[in-house]
Amino acid sequence: MPMRSLSVNLDHIATIREARKTNYPSITTAAGICEVAGADGITLHLREDRRHIKDRDLEIIREITLLPLTLEMAPTDEMLEIALKNKPDAVTLVPERRMEITTEGGLDLTKNQDKIKFIIDSLKKNHIKVCLFLEPIKEQIQIAKELNADAVEIHTGRYANLFDRFNPSKYEEELNRIKESAVFGKNIGLQMNAGHGIHYHNVRPLAKIEELSEFSIGHSIVSRSIFVGLERAIREMAELIRNP
Ligand code: PXP
Repeated sequence: MPMRSLSVNLDHIATIREARKTNYPSITTAAGICEVAGADGITLHLREDRRHIKDRDLEIIREITLLPLTLEMAPTDEMLEIALKNKPDAVTLVPERRMEITTEGGLDLTKNQDKIKFIIDSLKKNHIKVCLFLEPIKEQIQIAKELNADAVEIHTGRYANLFDRFNPSKYEEELNRIKESAVFGKNIGLQMNAGHGIHYHNVRPLAKIEELSEFSIGHSIVSRSIFVGLERAIREMAELIRNP
């Protein structure tokens, strides 16, 4: 993997398909384009309500892609079973609330530690790398290390919202929180990733943080693909990440 990598989240290809319950646009074609465009990985979020990605999508993508596959999932028994069956290269554990439009925050590792530890151990025993989706809070990142996670994905949603409201002092403050968390996590031996709400205009300051390794990006890439095509949308984002 290059120093900074891009894992393309394909959930919203499936969102468009599910809007009409058709069999297009094809998630497998999208996965092929990710490879052609030089993405470093593919991410799918199998939500408990299956609103976009379905179990079958995960099975097919697992079979056909040559890229490292990350499964985003809630820390539940059902999802653990699915992960162990499909064996993605990595799992990112995320909190999930049924009514949310999208993931609204990081896991709270001060709660449910036994359950999360059990899931981390089960995945790692099966050679699946484990990443925890967390707010940029050092105490949470420290607990991730103690629970033996391999990586942390910092939730960049708040940063993205502040950026879009054009609130420079506030978004710089949040950017600093992300930077300090990334440095802290890397120093204690975690791979530090970032994701959520990242788009073509707010990605540069994040990509300049040397401690961040992987960027998990979906909505903005699929949105841009409407105008420029998926291959170009991925190439443009990968370029911004690799050369910020
Ligand atoms: N990372 C995590 C943990 C997520 O839940 C999501 C959304 O599914 C993403 C990254 C991608 O976010 P976006 O679609 O806003 O790029």
